[in-house]
Amino acid sequence: MNLIQDLEILDDLDAPKLTAEEAEGARKVYIETYGCQMNVSDSEIVAAILRAHGYGLTRDPEQADVVLLNTCAIRENAEQKVRHRLDIFRAHKRKQRPGLRIGVLGCMAERLRHKLLEEEQLVDLVVGPDAYRDLPRLLEEAETTGQAAVNVQLSREETYADIAPVRYDSNGVTAYVSIMRGCDNMCAFCVVPFTRGRERSRPVQSILDECARLVEEGYREVTVLGQNVNSYRYTENGTVVTFPELLYRVSLISPELRVRYSTSHPKDCSDELLHVHRERHNVCNYIHLPVQHGNTDVLRRMRRTYTREQYLALVERARRIVPGISLSTDIIAGFCGETEEEHRDTLSLLEEVRFDHAYMFMYSERPGTYAARKYKDDVPLEVKKRRLQEIIELQTRISLENNRKEIGRVHTVLVEGPSKRSPEQLCGRTDTNKMVVFDRQDFRPGDYVRVRITDCTSATLFGEPLGRTTLAESAHTEPVLV
Ligand code: 5AD
Ligand code: SF4
Repeated sequence: MNLIQDLEILDDLDAPKLTAEEAEGARKVYIETYGCQMNVSDSEIVAAILRAHGYGLTRDPEQADVVLLNTCAIRENAEQKVRHRLDIFRAHKRKQRPGLRIGVLGCMAERLRHKLLEEEQLVDLVVGPDAYRDLPRLLEEAETTGQAAVNVQLSREETYADIAPVRYDSNGVTAYVSIMRGCDNMCAFCVVPFTRGRERSRPVQSILDECARLVEEGYREVTVLGQNVNSYRYTENGTVVTFPELLYRVSLISPELRVRYSTSHPKDCSDELLHVHRERHNVCNYIHLPVQHGNTDVLRRMRRTYTREQYLALVERARRIVPGISLSTDIIAGFCGETEEEHRDTLSLLEEVRFDHAYMFMYSERPGTYAARKYKDDVPLEVKKRRLQEIIELQTRISLENNRKEIGRVHTVLVEGPSKRSPEQLCGRTDTNKMVVFDRQDFRPGDYVRVRITDCTSATLFGEPLGRTTLAESAHTEPVLV
């Protein structure tokens, strides 16, 4: 039985992203996280809550008294992975560790609580994304009663603003800061509004304080997070702070702090926001801007609130206001009723925009969504697969062509740590969010290094380091040809 996960596959959105550090504590908790960056951030909040109540964290599931799976419900296969892991932990409990408590947190909790508790009797604990403060009590309850404990209540207020996350699997250089929760968009395919509830924004000052603390601790990059991050909106004493304003204020904390955000909706990508990218040297020249599809009728069925032409106009505007900005996107293949011609519109949109990167998915019907209630999931699996493959092949070619253009340019790279393949090499990201691998020399994580790009694949740039720099120094000089 393999309780240790293969942690190499970090780029897979559905793969587990973290384990926990060793710590002394009365009872040890092992946390495994699936899904988006928001879930990674939530696990850090869960770790903080449990630590404050005397629990220790462990990297080793064999040592754990409590195993928590922070789950994702976005696609069927994400759920299947979690079920498979639950089977493994349940067998471990039965054979070796009868006292083990197994909990399901996050997005699957609400959706599957009846199934998990009654039909399958799989778990001791089911806790939704807004109920983490209740975890210590629920663990107590499960312990004393021997029965499963549940809280899947969603909240209109909870933002965990006052909780300082325990960044237990951190590289010490880059950090996530959650700034809003939930989603009100109701895209037809998406389960998030049901699993995570209504949109709510975290108070401005608590965000600025957390970012400032990170700078003091030596962090060099923050990614502010929300399911729909650019609809951030917080009202204080009658004054409204919107996302561009918040981003601007975060960028003022330190000229050496890079600022990113994820994930945004095209409807909230205003000119004001684009101007913050332009004006602030430390707000990265990169936006993840999910388009989902290239055909206007499909976009309407998806309830995305924009047309193909409006999206293309937005891309044009972004590139005019922020020259050199890098864009990435999400694409869904095989949505309900998608014809061959509509599919080809997605391909032609990819050709037209030439994103640097895309996350590409096959449509997977999620119970309770608008699409599940109103449309037929009628594109045969084989057709979905073939269309997704065409999309992936095209985008891989475009990413490679875009990367080839980088050869000869010099980028400022923030070093994150050793590269996956060799301890003699370091890896880090450009301002435009491209991963660069280069020789270690005497550089360290947290350094800004000027790197001349010499080679690439569709996913990675390779280069030679030219020397240390500061973010302020490199602000208006890159990328340059030398
Ligand atoms: N099926 C396939 N992909 C989905 N996504 C969201 N819901 C579904 C679904 N039901 C994709 C979207 C979203 C990304 C996080 O996951 O592209 O932007
Ligand atoms: Fe998955 Fe969405 Fe939940 Fe993130 S918010 S864990 S992507 S279902």
